[in-house]
Amino acid sequence: MDDATRAELAARWAYRAGLEHAAAFRFRRLAGRLDASGFDRELVAIATLAETQEREHVRLCREIAARFGGAPGRDARGRDNTLPREPVVSEVAPGSFGERDRVIYEVVAFCCVTETANAVVVTAGADDIDDTAIRRAVRTILADEVQHSRLGWRFLATHPPDDTQLGWLGAYLPDMLAGTIREDLFRPQVVLGDEITMQRFGTLPVAGRREAFVTGMREVLLPGLAAIGVDTAPAAALLDRLDAERVKLDA
Ligand SMILES: [Fe+2]
Ligand SMILES: [Fe+2]
Repeated sequence: MDDATRAELAARWAYRAGLEHAAAFRFRRLAGRLDASGFDRELVAIATLAETQEREHVRLCREIAARFGGAPGRDARGRDNTLPREPVVSEVAPGSFGERDRVIYEVVAFCCVTETANAVVVTAGADDIDDTAIRRAVRTILADEVQHSRLGWRFLATHPPDDTQLGWLGAYLPDMLAGTIREDLFRPQVVLGDEITMQRFGTLPVAGRREAFVTGMREVLLPGLAAIGVDTAPAAALLDRLDAERVKLDA
């Protein structure tokens, strides 16, 4: 493996560790909010368990990143990759929302949208991994992310949104989708390192990530939300636009 590929693998796994770290704190806050707003106890328990699982994902991702170089606190290119002790967990719901609606928004945005997106992207790359330790780690992460997305669906089944809430869920769904992807995913990118090699070590090429995201959202997320009465037309229109970008970028 060449140095550029090795450094990029270290950077990608370290980046993923950062996302998992932020997810742990988001689940911690969510568990507290679910509890404070009087939602089902079992949902609080799942969110609490999810925090623990995300912490294990951080450990797994950092361990893999370390294999490709760098040292604790430094990535392979010498940049600081220390994880913040208390990451800033942004508010995703509009500021005007009350406490209960804020929780509904966050559960849908985070569990149904983001965790479903994670699960489909990880699934898409899982079969190409030929490194035993990484494959094992990715399988663990995948099984957990699927559970995390189920927290969202279970929440919606346990506490069905009323007509007003269904209305704003449909209207804000494009924002939730846009908020879950890296800003540059559907833009031209300079790829460092050899993507085919990196795929064998658990990071899907950017074209594959774009495709898995669009397909997963169209085939899993939208039908799931439409089934409970959310108007998914605005979100479908956004996915059509992203898909057109994707086709252009990958041509
Ligand atoms: Fe995770
Ligand atoms: Fe997760």
